[in-house]
This record gives sequence, C-alpha cells and structure tokens, in this order.
Amino acid sequence: MDLDDIAARLGVPVEEVERVHRLAGDRPSAPLPARADAPAILDRLAVRPDDAAEIVAGWPDPDSPLWTPELRWLLDRSTALVRADLGGVEWLSPGPELPRDRGPAWRHLYVYGYLALLDVVTGYHRDHGIADGVTWATLADLGRNLAIDRRMHGEGWPVMQSWLTLHARGGLYELGRLQHERGGTAIGLHIPDAGPMTPAAVDASLDEAREFFPRHFPDEHYTEFSCGSWLLDPQLRDYLPEDSNIIRFQRRFALQPHVPQDGPDADVEVRRFAFRTLSTPLDQLPRRTGLQRAIIDHLAAGGHWHWRHGRFPI
Ligand SMILES: CC(C)(COP(=O)(O)OP(=O)(O)OC[C@H]1O[C@@H](n2cnc3c(N)ncnc32)[C@H](O)[C@@H]1OP(=O)(O)O)[C@@H](O)C(=O)NCCC(=O)NCCS
Repeated sequence: MDLDDIAARLGVPVEEVERVHRLAGDRPSAPLPARADAPAILDRLAVRPDDAAEIVAGWPDPDSPLWTPELRWLLDRSTALVRADLGGVEWLSPGPELPRDRGPAWRHLYVYGYLALLDVVTGYHRDHGIADGVTWATLADLGRNLAIDRRMHGEGWPVMQSWLTLHARGGLYELGRLQHERGGTAIGLHIPDAGPMTPAAVDASLDEAREFFPRHFPDEHYTEFSCGSWLLDPQLRDYLPEDSNIIRFQRRFALQPHVPQDGPDADVEVRRFAFRTLSTPLDQLPRRTGLQRAIIDHLAAGGHWHWRHGRFPI
C-alpha cells in the first residue's frame, strides 16, 4: 500500500499521511499491553466503564477484522511518531483526524497509541525519579478527556488527541489541582475540569511544582509560571464577583498585551469549557451558572471573548 492508498482508505488528506510517514520514518513503535490486562489499566487511567467497554471491544488483536491494514499502519506509525518525541514539550498532533463513527478502531485509534506508550512514558518518569502517584494522576487525564468527549458527542476529541501526546511524552505533570507543562523558562499551567479551583488548592499545586521541577528536571531552569486561557480574559471581571475563584486566579497574573489571533478562538473555547458543546445555538445554551450567563450575555450583546496570556514569577 502506498501513502496515497492509505490516505484514500482512511478518508484523510494525503499530506497528513505523508507527515506521519515523514516524522515517524522507520523509528520504533511500541506494543500494546495484552487485552487481558486492559480492564485494570483502563481503570487506573480513570476510564469510565462505558468508554472502557468500547476500547476493549475494539482492541487491536493481530486477528481482529476491525483492524484493516491502513488502520494498523496508522496506529503503528503514529505511535512511533509520538515516541520519537519522548521528552518533547511542543504541541504535537499524532496524526490526521479520523471519522470516528466508523467503529471502535477508528474511534479510539489514538487511545490505543496512548496505551501502547504507557510503558515508554512510565519508564521516562521513573528515570526522572517521579513518584507513581504523580505518574498515574497525570496519565489518568485520558479517562477525564474521554468522559468529556462523550458529553460533547465527539466534538471535543480533535483537540484531545493532540493534547494527550503531552502526557504520553512526559511533557506535562498533574500536581494536585493543576497540570504543569514543561518548556522554556516558564511552567505552563493548565486547569483540568475537576471541580472548583479554590485559591488554597491552587497555592498547594504551585508549591508542589516549585519543588517538583528542580528535583526531577534539574537541568531545566524555570523562573515563571505562565498560562494561556479564556480564564484570563479581564472582561470576566465585568460579570463575575471579585471573590469568585476565576477572578482570584486572574489576580495572580501579569497579563501580556492582547494580540488577536494569538491562540485559539476564545468564543469557541468558552463554549467548550463552560457548556461542553461547540454546536448548540447561543439561545439554547443553559443559563444555570454565573459564568454561563456572563458568556451568553456578552456574546448576545455582540461582544467577543479573548484568549489571554499571563505570567508571574515562581
Ligand atoms: C476553571 C474552573 C475550575 C473554575 O471553576 P470555579 O472554581 O467554580 O470558578 P468560580 O468560583 O469563578 O465560578 C464562578 C461562577 O461560574 C460558574 N462556573 C465556573 N466554571 C464553570 C464552568 N466551566 N461551566 C459552567 N459554570 C462555571 C460557577 O459555578 C459559579 O457560578 P455561580 O456563581 O452561579 O455559583 C471551571 O471553569 C472548570 O472546571 N473549567 C473547565 C476547565 C478549564 O476551563 N480549563 C481551562 C482551559 S484553558
């Protein structure tokens, strides 16, 4: 099968298949765990029973008829592509977006890639002396993301398949309430969907990071925490109370000047994170919380939300 054939059978642009071929080259892939071990592993990764059942049903056993040659090629080369960047901290797409309504192999191809890389990334964590608790808390973002994608009827996945390559490469660590991303001289902060972010929980996570990075990555020198998010949009202050967790989080940061188009479209991202839908019309979105009402009213009045970047010293 040549690359044109693979692209045609996958129904994706040939450039994307060529990219996988180019980045993966003939580098090593990684084998999946045995299917018999899958339920325990998925449980450890916080994958909910409905998602776990689908993933086990589509398991890429050598004789599975679900796994056509082009799907096997993509799983193998996509896993090699991510593995080749072990330790990397840049945003990395593992491969083309697939039509995910064609069955569990299509739907979860990049999940199988993530599972195949577990041994590799846990080995990387061990080499850096990272405790098991941090390793598994970090990797269990898989289950959280699958559950969110299910709530979003599949709309969330295209971003998640790239997001999760950070975890699979050792680029990101969940320390208490926040996820911390390595890179440059700033630790990038991410806020998982895990209930309110109280100032105390944020303080504790920052303190943990202040010890974690010098200990486990002594060659990297961090001077700041940074964040890029819809959460840092100062327009939220017009709507949310001063003592809300979001506004208190904002107050930690010195904002960089707003540069339009520098980052994702915040009008889309607020829908993703506050409504878990990208396609519901504005007038049908729920108005249950103060944030939801703020987002809807601002957009309905013709306003836009902004993706903002901020930093503060470690
Ligand atoms: C970041 C997050 C933890 C903040 O939640 P929080 O600690 O409850 O925030 P606040 O105290 O400022 O909330 C103020 C109000 O907005 C509501 N609210 C906050 N986040 C909300 C969300 N994601 N969806 C709907 N409502 C939300 C709260 O319920 C509260 O409403 P109320 O006053 O009617 O009770 C929460 O938004 C979340 O989990 N987001 C998803 C992950 C995310 O956005 N990460 C950043 C990606 S760039």
